[in-house]
Amino acid sequence: AVPVSPMRCSASVSVAETPEVKDIDWDNIGFGLVNTDYMYVAKWTVGDPVFKGQLQRFGNIEVSPAAGVLNYGQGLFEGLKAYNKDGGKILLFRPEENALRMQMGAERLCMPAPTVEQFVEAVKTTVLANKRWIPPAGKGSLYIRPLLMGSGAILGLAPAPEYTFLIYVSPVGNYFKEGLSPINLLIATDVHRATPGGTGGIKSIGNYASVLKAQAAAKAKGYSDVLYLDCVNKKYLEEVSSCNIFVVKGNNISTPEVKGTILPGVTRKSVIGVARSQGFEVEERSVSVEELIDADEVFCTGTAVVISPVGSVTYDDKRYTYKDGKTGTITQQLYSDLTRLQMGTTEDIMKWTVEI
Ligand code: COI
Repeated sequence: AVPVSPMRCSASVSVAETPEVKDIDWDNIGFGLVNTDYMYVAKWTVGDPVFKGQLQRFGNIEVSPAAGVLNYGQGLFEGLKAYNKDGGKILLFRPEENALRMQMGAERLCMPAPTVEQFVEAVKTTVLANKRWIPPAGKGSLYIRPLLMGSGAILGLAPAPEYTFLIYVSPVGNYFKEGLSPINLLIATDVHRATPGGTGGIKSIGNYASVLKAQAAAKAKGYSDVLYLDCVNKKYLEEVSSCNIFVVKGNNISTPEVKGTILPGVTRKSVIGVARSQGFEVEERSVSVEELIDADEVFCTGTAVVISPVGSVTYDDKRYTYKDGKTGTITQQLYSDLTRLQMGTTEDIMKWTVEI
């Protein structure tokens, strides 16, 4: 037998399972993988003009042990959602934004990327093929996970000779186990998520592997997740492991500016748009830990988390609570306005949803 070193970062993980749609408890679905029917797989090899792809049954894929993504982390992912709208229509939320972000990340990691049209068409095709897995209106969404990876074999460090663009989907509910209740964040003082000039501003797979240890340690102490600070001054907010962060003070809403070390979130951008349209002053700028501690309300945004209120932050062993651990009114208002747009229960004056 081969001895193995113990995995020190244990975490609560959801194991893939294949329930029948009829057996899903839509009121308690959470954010774990549910195997669905089809995935979309497209390939590009050096010299090809475009990615060529099609639907296939959802299942394992085969890659060389020397694939660029496995050896050198040449990979990106995206996340977006489809909603069942009352009346039988399906809504996607700003899919072209994900396509553009994938192109930006691909450029940084020396990968070819699908065009915006190809990306959006592939998303639509995958969602329609898995239509029966979209939760009923108001009960959650179909999470869509596009991947782009160097699937070709390469031994020396260089871009892979072949790429795979793949999309799979899973029905999901709330991301955090707290549901819609406020989460408790631990501010990391000795671990940083990104560095200037690095890949923090793209949805590179490595950005997420690098926070697992800090996240697992925080969860083991009862925190919901970790908030990272900039690595130069160690005092400005960057983002949480899986989402962006906003602070509210009076009628002013601030969030760290996009400058290469934080992810340009689609939900982040949408919340800024919704808040400004309602007369809030929104600033994208450096936000210090002191301002965070002094804020009236704090919330996180992301495709998976949507808008998640923050009940407390812990910094240097001191816990600071917002609104007695309850959801603030501005956070609640933005959550309702954004989700009504996404689910199609209000007129889409922003023209953000795509009906399929
Ligand atoms: C998303 O919000 O879609 C993400 O990609 C975050 C992921 C860690 C769940």
